[in-house]
Amino acid sequence: MRYKFCHQLKNNIFFANNEIIHCCAGSESIAPKFRSNYFGEIFSGEELIKEKVEAQNRAKSGMLPFSSCKNCFSYEENDWDDDCLIKDISISHWTACNCNCFYCYSAKDKEYFNSRKPYDLLPVLENIKSVISPDCKVRFIGGDVAMLKEFDDLIKFFSDLGVKDFYVPTSGIKFLNVLENLLSKGLARAIISLDTGDRETYKKIKQVDCFEKVVENMQKYVAAAKVGGAVFEAKYIIIPNVNDTFEQVQKWLDLCVSMGIKNVGMDFETNYLVNCPDKIPDNAVKLEEFVEKIASENGMKYCRFTYLSQLVHGLENGLYRFAGENEV
Ligand SMILES: C[S@@+](CC[C@H](N)C(=O)[O-])C[C@H]1O[C@@H](n2cnc3c(N)ncnc32)[C@H](O)[C@@H]1O
Ligand code: SF4
Ligand code: SF4
Repeated sequence: MRYKFCHQLKNNIFFANNEIIHCCAGSESIAPKFRSNYFGEIFSGEELIKEKVEAQNRAKSGMLPFSSCKNCFSYEENDWDDDCLIKDISISHWTACNCNCFYCYSAKDKEYFNSRKPYDLLPVLENIKSVISPDCKVRFIGGDVAMLKEFDDLIKFFSDLGVKDFYVPTSGIKFLNVLENLLSKGLARAIISLDTGDRETYKKIKQVDCFEKVVENMQKYVAAAKVGGAVFEAKYIIIPNVNDTFEQVQKWLDLCVSMGIKNVGMDFETNYLVNCPDKIPDNAVKLEEFVEKIASENGMKYCRFTYLSQLVHGLENGLYRFAGENEV
C-alpha cells in the first residue's frame, strides 16, 4: 500500500538526555516524543511498538502521523511494509566528554555537562530486547563514549542480540579497546573529527592539548579497521575563520594519507549556519571539491556529513548566501 509515512518513525528510537524520541530529524525539540521528562523508567517493547503502529495507522488513513512531520523531508510517499520492529537505535543520553570543542553544545557549560549523571540504559534495553531486530544499527552520540560507564556493557548487550552495525564517533583522546575490537571484526564505523592537521589549530578548536595522542590513537584504529574491513573515518568540520583555507585542509589530508586512512569526510560548523546564514565563506564548496579530488587520487572514499548537505541544499534554495554575494 502506497502512502506518506516515515522510515524513522517506523523503526527508530532515540534516547536523548531526558526524553525518548522517534526520530532525529530536525531538532530534538520538534521530534515526536515517546517519553518526556524521562529518567530511565522501565517500559515495555509492546508499548513502544503500539505507538509506532498507531502512527502508521494514522498515516495509512491519510492523516499526519504527528504534527511535526508536516514539512519534514523524511515524511514521504512509499510502499511501506508493516514491520515496526526497532532497527535503528541512537544513544545520546549522556553529555560528559574528555574534550572541549568550542563549537559543541557542551562548551556552553562544560562543568554542568561533565557532571550530569545519565540514567542507566541497560535495564531499559533489557526490557525491550524482544522488539529490537538483530539487523539493528546502533549509533552512539553523546558526550564521548570514553566517558559513558555503560559503553562496554552496551556493546556486549547488543552483540549478544546479534547486532553487527555500530556507529561510534569519538574524540579519540582515550584509546578504547572495545572499539578496536569492533573495528577488527568489521562491526563498526568509527569517526574522529580532527578538524586540522596541526597541533596549534587543534588546541584552538578543541581547547585541550591532545593532538599527538589523538593521532597516535587514530593510527591504532586504522590498523584495526584494516584487519576487519571496517570503516574508520577522519572528519573535517569546516569552521569559518578558523580552518577554512586550502592550506589547512591540505595539511589535514597529508596527515590522513600518511596514516593510511581510507575514509574521509567533511562537515560544516552548524552554529555558523544559524548565526551567519548570509556570510558563508566563498570557498566552502570548493574546499569540499578539493577534498573529494585528493581523496580519489589517494584511493580514499569521501563522505559528506549532515550540516554540509544542509549548507549545499540551502545555497541552492536561497536559505544561505555566500559572503561575496553581499558585496555591491
Ligand atoms: C556531539 S558529538 C559526540 C561524539 C563525539 N564526542 C565526537 O565529537 O565525535 C557528535 C557529532 O557532532 C559533531 N558536532 C558537534 N558539534 C558540532 C558543530 N557545532 N558543528 C558540526 N558538527 C558538530 C561532532 O563532530 C560529532 O561527530
Ligand atoms: S517525518 Fe520527520 S518529524 Fe516525523 S517522525 Fe519522521 S523524521 Fe520525525
Ligand atoms: S568531542 Fe564531541 S562531545 Fe566532546 S566536546 Fe567535541 S563535539 Fe562535543
